[in-house]
Amino acid sequence: MTDLNQLERDLLSQVDAAGDEAALEAVRVSALGKKGSVSELLKTLGAMTPEERKERGPLINGLRDKVQGAILAKKETLAEAALEARLSAERIDVTLPVPEAPESRGRIHPISQVIEELTAIFADMGFSVAEGPDIETDYLNFTALNFPEGHPAREMHDTFFLAPDEKGERKVLRTHTSPVQIRTMTSQKPPIRVIIPGRTYRHDSDQTHTPMFHQVEGLVIDRQANIAHMKWILEEFCKAFFEVDQVKMRFRPSFFPFTEPSAEVDIQCSRKGGEIRFGEGTDWLEILGCGMVHPNVLRNCGLDPDEVQGFAWGMGIDRIAMLKYGMPDLRPFFEADVRWLNHYGFRPLDIPSLVSGLTS
Ligand code: DAH
Repeated sequence: MTDLNQLERDLLSQVDAAGDEAALEAVRVSALGKKGSVSELLKTLGAMTPEERKERGPLINGLRDKVQGAILAKKETLAEAALEARLSAERIDVTLPVPEAPESRGRIHPISQVIEELTAIFADMGFSVAEGPDIETDYLNFTALNFPEGHPAREMHDTFFLAPDEKGERKVLRTHTSPVQIRTMTSQKPPIRVIIPGRTYRHDSDQTHTPMFHQVEGLVIDRQANIAHMKWILEEFCKAFFEVDQVKMRFRPSFFPFTEPSAEVDIQCSRKGGEIRFGEGTDWLEILGCGMVHPNVLRNCGLDPDEVQGFAWGMGIDRIAMLKYGMPDLRPFFEADVRWLNHYGFRPLDIPSLVSGLTS
């Protein structure tokens, strides 16, 4: 006959020795499973005489209860130990600083931000955005814009020329955004109202000039667009861009081959204390060139100057960015120095709009 005391000692010590839930489950199956040692004992009760059963029954049932109880208690202990282990493994020091998310660490370059700002302002006035390639034909960069062959104005632009192709044609890195005027007038019908932001190139480098810089061109063509409209648009732009209520502008006669008459525009400012402010002061600062589109330019685009007319302007984006955000030197704009970008850059989610404010 099985020695119940021995079996009990064996089983309890196995329960005690089980190191994890899987080991404990194996002990449970070996004792209380279908073919377990205790289950087999229980099965023998049926074949016993009533006297035997009276004596052995409580002992075997008692053994079962004891083993079951020990397994349950061990299970709890193991679960607690597992929880403890997990808690200490996943411990978090809540006093540590929160790491910055990529979208709050990244910065938008001031040029990109200023292009967004001026696009928001002109979009509000009904302008759409047009673009053209940086590598441009000599024809679109100069000839179509009424620069005669050999005209000194071509030299004024310090042009970067590409090596001539097999036909002897020399492409250029566009010296201004004005060729996109031609691209627009030959691909769209008036009324036209576009701004053209983009990269431009000239052989020039000092504190306020870099070989690659940015311009934004404006072009309005319809039946009666005139200088008064242009002055209003430019004034509204300056007020919105520099975020001032009043701005005085001065239109000085000038020359561009593609406009007649042509003007350069200065805005009033104060330079007191080395800091430039708009809407006050007695100084002037040049910010753009403009004029009525030359009839030859209209003709070069297949438009009839007796039917349509319009105006255009070109403005240095880098220049107005430096002015607005007080950046004294242009060269670091293109040096990709993260320290500079951290200082002068914008948060990616500060998207300029006229409703929420250009700069928050
Ligand atoms: N393209 C000129 C420049 O780069 C700027 C300019 C002047 C553009 C007058 C225009 C304009 O559209 O009408 O110096």
